[in-house]
Amino acid sequence: MVGITPLKYLWMDGKFVAWEDAKVHVLTHALHYGYAVFEGIRCHSTPKGPAIFRLDEHLERFLNSAKIYRMNIGYTVKQLHDECVELVRRNGIQDAYIRPIAFSGYGQMGLDPTKCPVQVALTLWNWGAYLGEEGLEKGVRATVSSWIRVDSRALPPQAKCAANYANSALAKMEATSAGYDEAIMLNSNGMVAEGPGENIFRVKDGVVSTPPASSGILRGITRDTVIKFVEDLGYVFRRNDFTREEIFTADELFYTGTAAGITPIREVDGRLIGNGGYPITKRFQTLYDNVIHGREPKYEAWLSYVQ
Ligand SMILES: Cc1ncc(COP(=O)(O)O)c(C=O)c1O
Repeated sequence: MVGITPLKYLWMDGKFVAWEDAKVHVLTHALHYGYAVFEGIRCHSTPKGPAIFRLDEHLERFLNSAKIYRMNIGYTVKQLHDECVELVRRNGIQDAYIRPIAFSGYGQMGLDPTKCPVQVALTLWNWGAYLGEEGLEKGVRATVSSWIRVDSRALPPQAKCAANYANSALAKMEATSAGYDEAIMLNSNGMVAEGPGENIFRVKDGVVSTPPASSGILRGITRDTVIKFVEDLGYVFRRNDFTREEIFTADELFYTGTAAGITPIREVDGRLIGNGGYPITKRFQTLYDNVIHGREPKYEAWLSYVQ
C-alpha cells in the first residue's frame, strides 16, 4: 500500500533529518483536531538544473495561513526559501512535490492549540500528475458534488488548513466511487467554487473566467499564473461567479493546481463539455509546461534555481 518512495532527507524543526527519522508522537495535537497548515509546491527540471516554481508566493501563503490560525511559525519567508532550496539540493533530485507543514505538536490535549508547541516540517516526494497523465492529455470526467465547499463562516477557505481537506476528501471519494475522476464543489449559495484540490476555469465565446475569492475558494497560485497568461495571450478575462448550468454549457473547462497542473475537464455528469476539444486550455497548458521547465525567459522571475 505504500506509494511514497523514500528519499534521503526531510527537514524538521530547524534541521535536516534522515527520511525515516521524521516522526511525530501519536498524541500530536494536530492529528486529533486537524490544526495544521500546509503548502504544496513543485520543483521541475530545467536546462539550468532543478527550479522551484513561485516558491516565495507559496511561502507567503503558508505564513498567511498560519497567521489566520494564530500559529507562530517562527521562520521568515527568506529562511524557509533557503531551507526548501537546500532540501531539494541535498536529496539530489530534479522533480519534486514540496510540502511545508506547520502543526500543533505534542504536549497538551484539548481543543486550545495555543498550549501546544508549533512544529514545522519541510517535506518532499516524487509525485506525478495528480489527475493522471491521461487526464492531462485527454481531459477528466467530473461530477458536481453533493458536498458543498466549506463555508468561510465555518472554516476560512483562504487558509490552507488540514481541516478543510476532510471536506475535500468527502467530495473526492464520492466522485471516484461513482466512477468519476474528480469533483466540482458548489458553495453555500449554489454557485461553483472549486475542486477538492484545484481551482476551476470556464471558457465561453473566447472569454476566460474563474470564480472570485468571495466564492469561498483557495486563491490558487496556478490560478494566478493562468490569469497572467490569459492577459498576456490577449483573451478577455473575468472573475465572476457561475452556476452549475453554466459549466454544462461551457466551451471549455479546466482545473488548475500545483498538484494537478492545468487539467482539462472533458465531461461533467454525463455532458460533454463543448465539442470535446480544448484549444484555449491547450495553449495555457503548453505555456505553463514551458514556463515551469525554464523554457520561457519572460517568466523566469517565477523560478528559484537550486544549483
Ligand atoms: C482547495 C484547493 N483549491 C485550489 C488549489 C490550487 O492552488 P495552487 O494553484 O496554489 O496549488 C488547491 C491546491 O493547493 C487546493 O487545495
